[in-house]
Amino acid sequence: MKSRMLLLAIAAGIIGNGTVLAAPSQEEAIKKGREHFKIFCVNCHGVNADGKGPLVESLKITPYDLTALKQTGDLCIAERVLRAIAGLHDVAAGQKKDMPVFSGNLESITVYEITQYLKSIQKE
Ligand code: HEC
Repeated sequence: MKSRMLLLAIAAGIIGNGTVLAAPSQEEAIKKGREHFKIFCVNCHGVNADGKGPLVESLKITPYDLTALKQTGDLCIAERVLRAIAGLHDVAAGQKKDMPVFSGNLESITVYEITQYLKSIQKE
């Protein structure tokens, strides 16, 4: 009987934790993504992600307007972000990429949240 109670308690615990540990809500992810963006991306892409950050003057390529990702190119936004972070995005022939490679310096959850944020601010 005792062990049955224990089992029930464990099962309840799993369900309970499952709810708590479930993926953060979309809203939460967007909020966190905005915070990460302000830390890692804002200097070039600007506070509104429109490509008007304070470092623009010092770059050879204008950081893209990241609110227009949906309007440009065939790749989905998540792929654009993943590629850019890994330095695998395309630039015009003869140009040298100005965006630093972040890759392993950003945790997957951070990249996910930044992606959710960028998705939420796309122009139609
Ligand atoms: C030092 C300036 C700089 C920083 C910091 C920076 N970027 Fe960029 N980004 C650029 C520039 C410049 C481009 C245009 C392409 C290039 O020159 O590499 C670009 C292009 C992009 C693109 C478009 C890629 C495509 O598919 O065309 C995405 C998406 C992007 N950045 C996301 C980010 C994210 C997310 C961060 C923060 C984690 C970030 N960038 C940080 C400068 C920067």
